[in-house]
Amino acid sequence: SGPGVAALVASRVVDVPDFPKPGILFKDLTPLFADGPVFRQVIDVIIAHHGGRGGFDVVVGVEARGFVIAAALAYASGVGVVPVRKAGKLPRVAHSATYDLEYGTATLEISEGAFTPGQRVLVVDDVLATGGTAEATLDLVARAGGVVCGFTVLMELAFLAGRDRLPGCDVHALMTV
Ligand code: PRP
Repeated sequence: SGPGVAALVASRVVDVPDFPKPGILFKDLTPLFADGPVFRQVIDVIIAHHGGRGGFDVVVGVEARGFVIAAALAYASGVGVVPVRKAGKLPRVAHSATYDLEYGTATLEISEGAFTPGQRVLVVDDVLATGGTAEATLDLVARAGGVVCGFTVLMELAFLAGRDRLPGCDVHALMTV
């Protein structure tokens, strides 16, 4: 990806102190999504990193901001998109994965028939933080018969060491904090 695109992403991220609660510095990526040329370049860089058109068979996006990126990646690559959703949203749940949060737990789900066996799956989200979301998503994809060929985020919060929870996975971040 190189420093060029990292600087571009960084230029479109707004830091919001104390959101959603005191002490959290929220990284707001909506300005990046709203900038057409930058968003397009970001999508093109991600596709190139993961082998270009033909490098993956389907894209998985994680609710909710991952959906925005996943749909664009899928369209630009001529493949389909599969949503991984928070509990209770999908009408035909095939698999659920529950993971720990700082306080409590969260559950993600994937639909029946999401993949044909062996499909190469590119997983995308906006931010990699603790890695709990990503670990659960990779687990769901594997249980649904997909083969994860890469995991991409726009921003990695490296100090939270999320990638340590994704051994053996091609983890790609356009920018790192
Ligand atoms: C955020 C972000 C990732 C996740 C990363 O999602 O979009 O999905 O947290 O955190 P982790 O690495 O510590 O698991 P959020 O739960 O805010 O969902 P949203 O996109 O629906 O707002």
